[in-house]
Amino acid sequence: MKPLCGAAFLLLLLCAAATAQSPCICEKNKRVSNCRMDSSGQCRCEAIGSGVTVDCSTLTSKCLLMKAEVMGSKSGRREKPKDAFEDTDGLYDPECENNGTFKAKQCNGSTCWCVNTAGVRRTDKHDTDLKCNHLVRTMWIIIEMKHAERNAPLNAESLKKFFTDTITRRYQLDGRYIASVLYENPYITIDLKQNSSAKSIGDVDIADVAYYFEKDVKGQSIFHNNAGLNVSIDNEPVKFEKTVVYYVDEIAPEFSMKSLTPGLIAVIVVIVIAVVAAIVVLVLTRRRKGKYVKAEMKEMNEMHRGLNA
Ligand SMILES: *[C@@H]1O[C@H](CO)[C@@H](O)[C@H](O)[C@H]1NC(C)=O
Ligand SMILES: *[C@@H]1O[C@H](CO)[C@@H](O)[C@H](O)[C@H]1NC(C)=O
Ligand SMILES: *[C@@H]1O[C@H](CO)[C@@H](O)[C@H](O)[C@H]1NC(C)=O
Ligand SMILES: *[C@@H]1O[C@H](CO)[C@@H](O)[C@H](O)[C@H]1NC(C)=O
Repeated sequence: MKPLCGAAFLLLLLCAAATAQSPCICEKNKRVSNCRMDSSGQCRCEAIGSGVTVDCSTLTSKCLLMKAEVMGSKSGRREKPKDAFEDTDGLYDPECENNGTFKAKQCNGSTCWCVNTAGVRRTDKHDTDLKCNHLVRTMWIIIEMKHAERNAPLNAESLKKFFTDTITRRYQLDGRYIASVLYENPYITIDLKQNSSAKSIGDVDIADVAYYFEKDVKGQSIFHNNAGLNVSIDNEPVKFEKTVVYYVDEIAPEFSMKSLTPGLIAVIVVIVIAVVAAIVVLVLTRRRKGKYVKAEMKEMNEMHRGLNA
């Protein structure tokens, strides 16, 4: 009886081992936990901060990445000195849909604003009454990078090939969405264009690609093991000093005058002054003409009177 029992127990154990999903590594996202192989052999994990399941064979959405980043910077670390501050420009704790896209309306306490599909603010900040009808699509992303000073300029063709290959292989973006790679020493400008009619189901989004790329170039890779991108053109490593990303939405953003930059305000003031000056000149010349006409009339009247007398 005893050996039979033992055998049954062993079988049970084997069975349990076979059905338990084995742990795996998420190559495309380091900000995850609870990674398990699913029945089809894909590695799936939970995104930190949201618990949303992510598919490790493709890019994770920017919203989930940002949420995980905010969470990571908040928890389980040493308190920072009172006056210490960090660059949080662009980073906030976003609200994501279950499929990973940004909610159109984002808030921080009692200030709210509307974002585009890249999670970038496209309206002024308002109170919580703000309505954001739908999530506006970012159809064009311009990535502008400045490389460190070099003795000789880079080869524009090699450079174009490097970035096109990297973006299609490393971030799985279909090459048809790379509109151009331009080299104007020391600036490299990459245009990614993907409007709603061009994007098909399963395609990675240009907003996610741009986010992975920006992090890679800044040496903060999202990939497992921090396996950063090594930019090397014609076997020469290239370092970047500055990266700026611009977003163009399918509907123009709705910023009011308040948020216009001082430069633009100065231009508007100059135009207003010029217009006022032009009106003043016009009025003055009209007046003078008017007086002249009146004087003429008077003279005529006097002449008439003279004639009548
Ligand atoms: C959110 O609000 C807090 C408190 O007012 C502020 O410290 C923080 O900078 C805000 N974050 C953003 C991204 O606006
Ligand atoms: C994601 O979910 C939101 C809300 O349910 C939906 O409006 C949107 O179309 C979905 N987007 C994608 C790409 O599935
Ligand atoms: C969308 O993109 C495609 C390919 O770039 C282009 O041919 C088309 O005109 C665009 N549609 C709109 C509405 O902008
Ligand atoms: C870039 O170089 C580092 C250090 O040599 C290496 O660990 C990393 O794997 C490289 N990344 C890629 C994408 O080859």
